[in-house]
Amino acid sequence: MRMFDDPGFTAAPYNHFLERLEAQDRPVVAALHGMVLGGGLELALACHFRVARHGTSLGLPEVKLGLIPGSLGTQRLPRLVGGEFALDLCSSGRMITAALANEKGLVDSLADGAPRTFGLAAAQALLAAGKPLRRTSALDVVPAAVEVINKAEAAAFKKPGWPQLAAIVRCARAAQDLTYDEGKAVEAAEFAGLVHSPSSKALRHLFFAEREAVKIPGLPRDIEIRPVKKVGIVGAGTMGAGIAINFLNAGIGTVVVETDGDALQRGLEMIRKTLEANIAKSRISPEKVAERLQLVRGALNYSALADCDLVIEAVFENLALKQQVCSELGRVAKPGAIIATNTSTLDVDFLAAATGRPADVIGMHFFSPANIMRLLEVVRGAATSPEVLATVIKLAATIGKVPVVSGVCYGFIGNRMAEVYMRETEFLILEGAEPVQIDAAVESLGFAMGPCRMLDMAGIDVGAKTVIEYDKAGGLPPDASYRSLVRKLFTLGRHGVKVRAGYYKYEGRTPVADPEVGAIAESLAAQHGITRRKEVSREEITERLLFPLINEGFKILEEGIAFRAGDIDVVWVAGFGFPDFKGGPMWWAEAVGLEFIAERMAHYAATLGNAHGYWTPAKLLSQRASSTAGLSVGRRDHQVFVG
Ligand code: NAI
Repeated sequence: MRMFDDPGFTAAPYNHFLERLEAQDRPVVAALHGMVLGGGLELALACHFRVARHGTSLGLPEVKLGLIPGSLGTQRLPRLVGGEFALDLCSSGRMITAALANEKGLVDSLADGAPRTFGLAAAQALLAAGKPLRRTSALDVVPAAVEVINKAEAAAFKKPGWPQLAAIVRCARAAQDLTYDEGKAVEAAEFAGLVHSPSSKALRHLFFAEREAVKIPGLPRDIEIRPVKKVGIVGAGTMGAGIAINFLNAGIGTVVVETDGDALQRGLEMIRKTLEANIAKSRISPEKVAERLQLVRGALNYSALADCDLVIEAVFENLALKQQVCSELGRVAKPGAIIATNTSTLDVDFLAAATGRPADVIGMHFFSPANIMRLLEVVRGAATSPEVLATVIKLAATIGKVPVVSGVCYGFIGNRMAEVYMRETEFLILEGAEPVQIDAAVESLGFAMGPCRMLDMAGIDVGAKTVIEYDKAGGLPPDASYRSLVRKLFTLGRHGVKVRAGYYKYEGRTPVADPEVGAIAESLAAQHGITRRKEVSREEITERLLFPLINEGFKILEEGIAFRAGDIDVVWVAGFGFPDFKGGPMWWAEAVGLEFIAERMAHYAATLGNAHGYWTPAKLLSQRASSTAGLSVGRRDHQVFVG
């Protein structure tokens, strides 16, 4: 896939080869097994017969990379499976089983055994039958209904950052309305328009960044992985219940421990209801849900954790409580068991010390809802053993998560960067901007949700308590106005969506601007001597929210908290709704221009005052801004575990 980065790349030579293959006068059989994706499937489409081994997965995932299938896939696929199913496969990029592919006509037969053997057998059968060769490009398309195409077009319109969706619809139209040769030309033009586009480059960057993120510099390849057959979870609240579901879905026995019977019942109910909700959505059968529920057990005593291979604590975000829980876990967990904390912000090294066996301790920071969000920040403590780190990275894949390794610091990668983002959100509101204006500015860039809606959903209480704990630990700047709004909203009981009041008021789950929040902001501004303005521009909002966030990313790189800029991008896209077609904050920063970002930081330092170093650029940002090297040189390659 790296070949797409070549500015002179064109699909023409490969497509020419596929045409010649299809034009052969002797049977060409594709014997398929494993994963048959993208260009590999397009090769199979050019053959005269396709036979797949049971268990083969097939798909055209190009859409996820900002592309369309550009090697005649958009034109050949509808000729085999019909316009509607082809449009579905191209637009979703999803993989299908060999059985479904066979049912839909994408593969001609299914087989078992060695591909060479069943492939040759299929070729011999074709020769023996003596029938004319079936060339895909010569077949007629069973067209998709107009409504189906219109619906796909409307969906594409709603995702302007993904121009490949509209391109796929245009190719689908061409496949059914034009001749094969005309359709081919449409596909070629669409592909050429996308392959060098910023959105495709950004999506491809993320694709590689996710794969790179699991590589830990200095970790020996043959490192011993500890078996994880049974997992314990302490605290069955929002996170604990969600975390448990991940393991149940992976078929791993799980025990959840709570303080009292009611809390335990609530947690187990939450697990049951969440799994059962998937039956209604036809994602899972009732039998499978029953099977998974058999794997979970509740307990009120820590001794139930004694035979677990991994125990994750997910109790309230309170240092003293977590310290006590970790000390207890150090005592009850069996030798060799991994002890993990799901803390969002607290010091993992401090908690590790409390267990008395810090080499076994690691942070596993799940994101809410923990059974859905793909991101897992894996926090390596100063003493975390390489085996523990390697085991957790591998386990992440087992439970379908994207792991990113972070060092220990307040908030790790994601929440540390989110802190400066929320700082500016609140200062802007005190200065006169409205939550709706701030959210709209960020959402116009493609963010899933602006900061005010995000915190209302996560819970103002959750956010405020974190700030309060950080204050207790001496982490806040000596600035009484700092995050004063979230603390005020918290004391007023405006805890967010769940109580229908936070930065917004809520009609059902719909946020509505609330003048009361304006009045609270006005009074806080007066209290802290902050001048209010009538006009705050969209440009100022996006710059003030995102440039300090990027700056914090540079500090994180500089300090070695993240291994690579790409890791930070994965965290923000998979965990915080940063638009994937912008590649994540560090990738986007290069597109915006590091020099420009540094200039604007200096501008805000001059106009707002650089209280507490809010606008001081990271050394690495300043260096990169003044060189032409960009971030790629800044990507670090630490030797964390050598030998
Ligand atoms: P929660 O309040 O929903 O659940 C905490 C649970 O822990 C409660 O059910 C409580 O009864 C139980 N608990 C308290 N002390 C206990 C003890 N000694 N032994 C056993 N159980 C005990 O809290 P939530 O939101 O699930 O958060 C838990 C942890 O996850 C916190 O560290 C939080 O920072 C972290 N986190 C939270 C996220 C969120 O969005 N809510 C996101 C990521 C991490």
